[in-house]
Amino acid sequence: TKTTFVIAIDGPAAAGKGTLSRRIADSYGFHHLDTGLTYRATAKALLDAGMPLDDEAVAEQTALDLDLAGLDRNVLSDHAIGEAASKIAVMPAVRRALVEAQRRFASKEPGTVLDGRDIGTVVCPDAAVKLYVTASPDVRARRRFDEIAARGEPADYQAVFEDVKRRDARDMGRADSPLKPAEDAHLLDTSEMSIEAAFQAARSVIDAALKSR
Ligand code: CDP
Ligand code: CDP
Repeated sequence: TKTTFVIAIDGPAAAGKGTLSRRIADSYGFHHLDTGLTYRATAKALLDAGMPLDDEAVAEQTALDLDLAGLDRNVLSDHAIGEAASKIAVMPAVRRALVEAQRRFASKEPGTVLDGRDIGTVVCPDAAVKLYVTASPDVRARRRFDEIAARGEPADYQAVFEDVKRRDARDMGRADSPLKPAEDAHLLDTSEMSIEAAFQAARSVIDAALKSR
């Protein structure tokens, strides 16, 4: 019998998935996996080893060797790693290997929160709660821009905006596991929502699902 309570959170870049997922995991005492980090860590391992990004067999083996325990957003936040991640994420063999590891993580007791692009549609189609978190491209670019500026790095809004749109096109346009809301996902547009408001909206959906299990 399955007792693990899985919360699937999907959406485009900078929609607020990670912030919301961490908050939910803390609040409910659930394990959290940012699946974007699995793609980023695989890409970084390839870059570090000087391996090509377009050799699917090499990328697959790298994905199979990945240790989920060591993932750290701080060492994976680099822009070049994000670009490389979104390139290897189109390869079916890479996705198969990482999805397998993500599913193992998802079964941890007492509950898990996974965020990414294909959690509700592919990784955990039976999740107890599915949220599709989104915001307008302009709002998402602004959030990314503010993060870069807060780190004291030079930021160009127009470049960040173009980048967000390119990433969306790649995520939504790929043949394998394109980004889209699951049919049974709750849509959460955070364009005009504070982090707290988004959390409260998510909480009411989660609490209702917990009550009716
Ligand atoms: O994980 P994802 O790329 O979807 O986004 P994130 O890293 O959680 O959020 C991107 C930025 O937007 C963070 O700096 C959040 O603090 C901010 N944010 C916000 O301002 N308002 C929200 N409702 C959600 C996130
Ligand atoms: O870089 P960004 O914040 O937009 O995304 P991320 O969540 O750090 O993920 C890096 C890349 O991995 C994304 O551009 C996606 O193409 C890919 N990804 C995916 O294909 N499926 C997931 N479940 C998570 C991420």
